[in-house]
Amino acid sequence: MTANSVLDGRNIDLDAAIEASRAQLATAHALSLARHREAATSLPGGNTRAVLFYHPFPLTFTGGQGCRVSTLDGVELIDMVSEYSAGLYGHSDATIAAAFKTAIDGGVALGAPNTVEADYAAELVKCFPGYERVRFCNSGTEANIMALSTARALTGRKKIIAMAEGYHGGVLTFAHGGSPLNLPFPFSFATYNDIEGTRALIRDLADDLAAVILEPMMGAGGCIPAEPAFLAMIREETAAAGALMILDEVMTSRLHYRGLHGALGVTPDLLTMGKYLGGGASFGCFGGRADILDRFDPSRAGAFSHGGTFNNNILSMTAGMAGFTRVRTEEAVDKMNALGDRLREGITATFRHRGVVGCATGRGSLMNIHVIAEPPTTPAMLDAIDTRCLDLLHVEMLLRGFYIAPRGMIALSLPYGEAEADAFLAALDDFLAVYGPYLPRRH
Ligand SMILES: Cc1ncc(COP(=O)(O)O)c(C=O)c1O
Repeated sequence: MTANSVLDGRNIDLDAAIEASRAQLATAHALSLARHREAATSLPGGNTRAVLFYHPFPLTFTGGQGCRVSTLDGVELIDMVSEYSAGLYGHSDATIAAAFKTAIDGGVALGAPNTVEADYAAELVKCFPGYERVRFCNSGTEANIMALSTARALTGRKKIIAMAEGYHGGVLTFAHGGSPLNLPFPFSFATYNDIEGTRALIRDLADDLAAVILEPMMGAGGCIPAEPAFLAMIREETAAAGALMILDEVMTSRLHYRGLHGALGVTPDLLTMGKYLGGGASFGCFGGRADILDRFDPSRAGAFSHGGTFNNNILSMTAGMAGFTRVRTEEAVDKMNALGDRLREGITATFRHRGVVGCATGRGSLMNIHVIAEPPTTPAMLDAIDTRCLDLLHVEMLLRGFYIAPRGMIALSLPYGEAEADAFLAALDDFLAVYGPYLPRRH
């Protein structure tokens, strides 16, 4: 295990510990640092995807096998980011690799209906209770934009309720007060899991309200599960208000074979998905009630038009279909999520054992480590957290051979097994043993 040498016998504080860890990372990953600097000459800050930036610089990866990735400096890491949940199948699944090859050999960019898209749509409709019909697009962001725009066009109303600190895509980002780049829709914000406050807001907007959009577990918002009563209230109140309930399962559909909405028994009007369903290629889909989706039938008068050059691209369709029908079995999904439950509980137990404030929240294969004593039930409870603790944890875990998201999020993949979970818990224990004195203590 790598203990930070600056700690040896010296009286330092958290900032100095972070600085020393970052310096150690820079030394171990000199080629990544050089690559990052070079990238910054043409990409702003060397970056083309905000979530991938962290201090002191993001490591460049050269490849992956199973649940492991390799860095440019030749270091192997256990991948616990799993492409922010899209990497469900790991990096080298043979079935998916063969599907990509079949698609490429058959010719790409065909520009007509292909032989895969309808079969894939049928599989999604068969599996997920929230889909009577589905349409494909290219990303989760696009799926949510289409769902929101559909709700507004269908109801003839403008307003949308979203959850404070929620994330539904690059132009639908509501963390820390939102983004100036967000879509100019009139959003109102509810507090996740606040049943009475959200009910009042829905009733208040009533005739102006087109839709309520939320995740059945906040993903980027901190892996905070919804109370079943909260979802039931939104289902009931949106129906009463004549507004649509949109569930965003771009991240959470991996948490149960039938999607999280299927596991919880909630059927929204519109349901969005993405990420792993493209088998590793870009993907998004939106669907739901047949009477709503059939408005997109181009043979009907007054149909909604929905374009997208790559909506049915053969790579996403073929790899997505292969993964969904041949790799993502019910047994595999259950096993991965059971391992996630064990890991999440193990993380919380390790913090307790070392007397350090911290816990992991989430469900199954998605979780988030928080430096807070008790699991938060709504994102506002995370406001007071000292994010420097997660900065240190992130860099120190990289130094110990584990890639987790800088914000403490973890997403498992199917190849990730018991041995990797045990190794991570041992590394976390070591981290807390070394750095415990600089972190908030349990009383
Ligand atoms: C809940 C949720 N919705 C939508 C998106 C956007 O998906 P994409 O990155 O494919 O546009 C994400 C991405 O992380 C997400 O977590």
